[in-house]
Amino acid sequence: MILCLNTKNDIAAPAIEIKSSSLQLYLSDNRPITGVDKTDRLYNHLMPEIISVRMLTKKFNGLTAVNEVTFGVGKGEVFAFLGENGAGKSTTIKMLITLLAPTSGEALVDGFRITRDAARVREIIGYVPQMISVDGTLTAFENLMLMAKLYDIPKKDRDNRIREVLRFLELEKEAGILVRKFSGGMIRKLEIGQAILHRPPVLFLDEPTSGLDPVARRNVWQHLNQLRDRYQTTIFFTTHYMEEAEEVSDRVAIMHGGKLVAIGKVAELKSRTANPHATLEDAFIYFTGATMAGGGTFRDTKRAREMERKLG
Ligand SMILES: Nc1ncnc2c1ncn2[C@@H]1O[C@H](COP(=O)(O)OP(=O)(O)O)[C@@H](O)[C@H]1O
Ligand SMILES: [Mg+2]
Repeated sequence: MILCLNTKNDIAAPAIEIKSSSLQLYLSDNRPITGVDKTDRLYNHLMPEIISVRMLTKKFNGLTAVNEVTFGVGKGEVFAFLGENGAGKSTTIKMLITLLAPTSGEALVDGFRITRDAARVREIIGYVPQMISVDGTLTAFENLMLMAKLYDIPKKDRDNRIREVLRFLELEKEAGILVRKFSGGMIRKLEIGQAILHRPPVLFLDEPTSGLDPVARRNVWQHLNQLRDRYQTTIFFTTHYMEEAEEVSDRVAIMHGGKLVAIGKVAELKSRTANPHATLEDAFIYFTGATMAGGGTFRDTKRAREMERKLG
């Protein structure tokens, strides 16, 4: 049996041939997809893309921040978007969430165009920005209520929806506490809560764990993984922590100077470095060059961020 999963767009969608004892996947140009085994999350290959990015470009005056970027993200995937500071990660995300208009190119989110169907795209997505997006002078409950109103959640549902989110994030006991008393990890969870109130199938998170200690980071990921497992939420996130990207993501993409320089599973990217002991950090340096445009190495940036965090 041959099944063709051609999606609404023309980006390569896999054709599937199911034989009695085996499953072989092919790309639409007949190249077989290899290395798919029972432990793989097959839906990454089987499901149509929920995000399709084509030649997406953003120029700010003379600077090309995002340069003809093309890639896709499968439904239910945890997708890590990596790159040094200034690589174009946040700008790409801001275009995908319709906060910034592309200079050229297009992207589809669940079949809707970011350029012309922006209102529909916004209904489908949740966004956790890089900068703090909660109000410290309000309680956790009040912050969520503000968002529930902004998202047009019907009045009769708001209370229940907020309680559900607080329960899900294990913040019930803190509902009435002023957010300025929260730890960094609790603030991040509350921001995730704000972004999932309207139950979006796609969640964008820009550096969701920056500045968090390892315990808080793990806790944030426990909840994000639950979201994916329970609701098949697609999770698109950026991080500077390579171990985190390696641990949680199905695939990673690496940006460098506005260009997408590598995309694939962590194991694939490592194997392309030809170093059998390569870590994801080694692969990152291999694809981006050890020296960054802004000066210093990736490792320096990571250290600087850690220092920034300590200084508060
Ligand atoms: N609104 C803006 N106006 C001008 N330049 C910008 C603007 N936003 C981002 N840039 C520039 O675009 C480049 C990419 O930035 P950004 O997408 O924030 O990178 P990243 O998130 O990967 O650190 C940087 O050189 C940045 O200075
Ligand atoms: Mg950024």
